[in-house]
Amino acid sequence: MPSRPSKLVCIGAGYVGGPTMAVIADRCPDVQVTVLDLNASRIAAWNGEALPIFEPGLPEIVRRARGRNLRFLTQDEGMAALAEADMVFISVQTPTKTTGEGAGKASDLQYVEACARLIAAQARGHTIVVEKSTMPVRAAERIQQILSANTSGATFAVLSNPEFLAEGTAIRDLERPDRVLIGGQDAAAIQALRSIYAAWVPAERILTTGLWSAELSKLAANAFLAQRVSSINSLSALCERTGAEVSEVATVIGSDSRIGPKFLQASVGFGGSCFQKDLLSLVYLCEHHGLPEVAAYWQSVVDVNEWQKRRFAEAVQQAAVNRRIAVLGLAFKKDTNDFRETPALAVCRTLLQSGFEVVAYDPRVEVGRFAAELGAPAGFSSASTAAQALAGAGAVAVLTEWDEFRQLDWSQARLAAGAVILDGRNIVDRAAVRRAGHRLHVIGAGLT
Ligand code: NAD
Ligand code: UGA
Repeated sequence: MPSRPSKLVCIGAGYVGGPTMAVIADRCPDVQVTVLDLNASRIAAWNGEALPIFEPGLPEIVRRARGRNLRFLTQDEGMAALAEADMVFISVQTPTKTTGEGAGKASDLQYVEACARLIAAQARGHTIVVEKSTMPVRAAERIQQILSANTSGATFAVLSNPEFLAEGTAIRDLERPDRVLIGGQDAAAIQALRSIYAAWVPAERILTTGLWSAELSKLAANAFLAQRVSSINSLSALCERTGAEVSEVATVIGSDSRIGPKFLQASVGFGGSCFQKDLLSLVYLCEHHGLPEVAAYWQSVVDVNEWQKRRFAEAVQQAAVNRRIAVLGLAFKKDTNDFRETPALAVCRTLLQSGFEVVAYDPRVEVGRFAAELGAPAGFSSASTAAQALAGAGAVAVLTEWDEFRQLDWSQARLAAGAVILDGRNIVDRAAVRRAGHRLHVIGAGLT
């Protein structure tokens, strides 16, 4: 195998596999990149005009590389590419297990294991297998076991290369990463993967560690980020009781260079497909390794987040002057169409269970899919504009920090008399609300 791989395959064309491979193809025009997925409609979307995920900057990159050295294939179509690949990335989901040992906490590795079996069956010659999905510590051992059971005579090296991109800023994160992490034992394999990233990432930003440290570092990084959000959210409640303002507190503590300003934005709670599942995976690992105090510490980060979502939903119910609630924002953060584990799901569920009618608007989320996730309840409906959602509402819950919501003209909002706007992101223009004569409750500041 040449020291720089020329044929890459990625299994999994999701929020990580798609953008990551598009950037690799864009930055390494001499490398053939094939992205496979079982989901044929997702692959069709990657091959079409409307990509399956909304991510700023992504369409331009896909347009540049697709058909040149980037292709998206269904799994069946991609078998030959898999057999010829020098390097295969596994970028499939690792959700929380729902059944069996560790249910509710441990990561479900069934999708990863299926990929390892597929690679073992298809690979020819020497293949570097790269864990791109987020894994529990020592997951690579399981992958190695599966690969070594192959009968074709192929040989393998396994690396951990966890991804640190955040949705909404994925392209920037991939093009200018704080660091790229490669964990492994096989020097030639590490060098081969390093040579791909070296096309655009400065050498000092490519960190190498042992396999287990790489796997744990990914879980730890997400746990630390989530812990900061739960810390500031816990203080947001104290601010509301005392008259302190959480954004001021965050600015002050964040100006300490030892603490830094990022991830101190109080919110209705963190969401997304990873923070909670990765924290729970860490909790499970700690319990499994006989560290109940460590497990309890990280579990508390999840618990505060659940409490914050509940607390916000209760505040909305108490503030509402009628039974119609306008929900602005369903995505778990701005600039993505992703609503996995979004706080909006928890808030809408609570409101609907309490008999409220919810009218939701989001600029990017397909509200039909969101409603299906809720179980298509009768009290839930969608609006095609923010103004439509606001009409007649007895309370407004702002749940995502979309720029559009910062700029809303509250004087045009036809809210019910006395309606309260509850800002779960601290982004609403307070002066504009005051001028329009509405009441405003801001997370971490109370009624302003
Ligand atoms: P995703 O659900 O968007 O994508 C996973 C894709 O894998 C799906 O399209 C699915 O159809 C496909 N797939 C599953 N099994 C397959 C198989 N056997 N063969 C072919 N395709 C298969 O997930 P994601 O958000 O891209 O996350 C993937 C991994 O990356 C997870 O471990 C996650 O924790 C991690 N991660 C996610 C993010 C993020 O921002 N979403 C960031 C960093 C790391
Ligand atoms: C996060 C990490 O930031 C990435 O480094 C990591 O790769 C990724 O998880 C992953 O492993 O999936 P992501 O979930 O896409 O990325 O988005 P974040 O920007 O981290 O936001 C997560 C949640 O925390 C969002 O709901 C966001 O609104 C919330 N948040 C974030 C706050 O409430 N306050 C903050 O100050 C920051």
